[in-house]
Amino acid sequence: MSSIQVKDKLFELSIKEEVILEAIDKIAKAMNEDLGDKNPLFICVLNGGFMFASDLLKRLNFPCEISFIRLQSYQKSSTNGQIKEIYGLQGNIENRNVVILEDIIDTGYTMSFLKKELLSKKPNMLKVATLLFKPKALSVELEPDYVALEISNEFIVGYGLDYDGHGRNLRDIYKIKES
Ligand code: IMP
Ligand code: MG
Repeated sequence: MSSIQVKDKLFELSIKEEVILEAIDKIAKAMNEDLGDKNPLFICVLNGGFMFASDLLKRLNFPCEISFIRLQSYQKSSTNGQIKEIYGLQGNIENRNVVILEDIIDTGYTMSFLKKELLSKKPNMLKVATLLFKPKALSVELEPDYVALEISNEFIVGYGLDYDGHGRNLRDIYKIKES
């Protein structure tokens, strides 16, 4: 099936599951080399990061922990900036070796906010792993440590990513069809 409808939009096949899993194999291999003695704490950003986190962690061969957070954005009427808040961060990350697991870095605002918040809790190390990276959309200074796949500036769904809450269950990644 190379074309699908998610709610009111049409999408076409963009990245097959095999390609996604091969890319995850690569970063898992790099992590197995880099993080084997670090007992890292992976922090998966929900909702989008769940499939990536699952497939990645199955490929890691060293002791590690995982926890899950959500970011809530809300518009404060007095400012035009989007304010975000972290929910669900459990325990103390002070002196821990932390790796954030994110589905996608688009403008980078979310990740730079999250990095700042987590750094204020004084981890020993803070790394960023993202399944997808849109380098052309990046609007802040940010260099993710592990990137599975770079993509162009298109809206995508599948493999954890959604359009209006739907499409997260798709095993392949689809890009929006411009009508
Ligand atoms: P950023 O703050 O612009 O980097 O946006 C990051 C967040 O926007 C991600 O965690 C996703 O939840 C969402 N996002 C960005 N691009 C896409 C996309 O193409 N499809 C689905 N969600 C996206
Ligand atoms: Mg996300």
